[in-house]
Order: sequence, then structure tokens, then C-alpha cells
Amino acid sequence: MEVKIYKDYNELSAAAAAMIIDCIKSKPEALLCFATGDTPRLAYQKAAESAIGDKIDTSGCFFIGLDEWMGIPPTNTGSCHWFLHEYLFKPMDIDPTQIHLFDALAANGEEECRKMNKLIAVNGIDLMVVGVGMNGHIGFNEPGTNINSLAHVAALDEITRTVGRKYFEDEVTIGKGITVGLKQVMETGKLLMMANGKKKAPVIKKTLEQAIGPDFPATFIRQHKNGFLLIDEEAASELKTA
Ligand code: PGA
Repeated sequence: MEVKIYKDYNELSAAAAAMIIDCIKSKPEALLCFATGDTPRLAYQKAAESAIGDKIDTSGCFFIGLDEWMGIPPTNTGSCHWFLHEYLFKPMDIDPTQIHLFDALAANGEEECRKMNKLIAVNGIDLMVVGVGMNGHIGFNEPGTNINSLAHVAALDEITRTVGRKYFEDEVTIGKGITVGLKQVMETGKLLMMANGKKKAPVIKKTLEQAIGPDFPATFIRQHKNGFLLIDEEAASELKTA
């Protein structure tokens, strides 16, 4: 794993966007997996601008979503579904046939997981972009998640439920999430983990300095063979060596 520190959120986002575009250029049939959240939003907007502006051919790529809030409809502006369409797929002009997202309204969550597991097993994820939660989660791989986990429905940690309210305009009940598993995160061809801002400084300190283990899933990135932790100076401000 490599740690890259950028001056600010704008530079961090530009670097992540460039890595997304590089992946698509070097493998036009790439399978890309994207997280949602405040962190990657600008990187996606910049990647979409670049793809359209530079006429990058994205028609052979396939896109999957890292996770979703169970029970939240895709029309809700707090859903991962809505976010990815709004900031990435629509601006990049991606055809719906190139996208597979978890159906958070599915009666059978296990079946949703099976579909995602199959897709990943057949193609392998070339590039995954993730944020990191205040509790160290990656997607909805909450503290305590087994490193060998595949896609699963997870009971959400209290911190995730509390912090998660920020995405929703109206009061919603968020109890469970559906997510790609840690094993699949660790097996990606390239993993970009992004974090910015002062509030993520203690999270990044733990990610890099705490013992690697399920108590703080983000620590596992240190074992990823092609992992990049992309952070801004504020997020790096509590590191021993920063
Ligand atoms: P954020 O979420 O980008 O909104 O901070 C990160 C996460 O919970 O994974």
C-alpha cells in the first residue's frame, strides 16, 4: 500500500479522478466498483468531466456499487443508487446495461448478494474506490467483519446509523446495509481509499497506526498489494510522520 498526501480536497479529488480515467484507458472493459459518500463526490464529478471532455470510450466498462442502505428506494436522494447516477453515471453518459447496483428493496437480500458475488467472481474488480467511515468501515463492512466475507447484508453499527443521517433529507430508519465483502475489497486489482478533512484525521491515524484487524476494517488496506490511501493534509495531520 502507498500513502499519498495532497494539499487539499480539490487536489485529492483530481488525483483520484485521474486514477479512475487511467484505469478505463488501460483496460476499456474494466469492472469498476464505486463507493458513495461525501468524500468521493468531487472525484467522480472530475472523472466524468474528463471522460466526456477527452472523449474517453467508457462503453466497454462495467460499473458496480459498493453498497446500499437496505429498504431505501433508489429515488431517495440519500440512497447510494441516487448518488452514483447523479454524480457519475448520468454525467458520464453510462448506459444502464453497464451498471449493476444492489437492489435495496429486494425481498431476498441473500439473492442480491449471490448475484453480486457471481458478477465479481466472473470478472474480478479492476478498480475500487472507497471512503472510510468514522468507525473504520469500508462500505458496510462494519467493525468485527470477517476478512473472508463476501457480499452480505449487515446490521449497521451505531456510528454508521448516526453519521448516515447526514445523507438523508427526511427522517429514515437505517438499520441494515448490503455490501460487497472485505475479501472482494482485498482482491481488487487496485484499491483507492480516500479521506479528507480534519474530522478524518483520527480515522486515518488509526488506519495507519493501529494493529491490523477487524476492529477497524480500514487497517486491512495496509495488506493490499495495490492499495492507495489518498488523503489531504488535514486528514494526515495526526500522523506521526506527517
Ligand atoms: P463520507 O463517508 O465519505 O461521507 O465521509 C465515508 C464512509 O462512511 O465510508
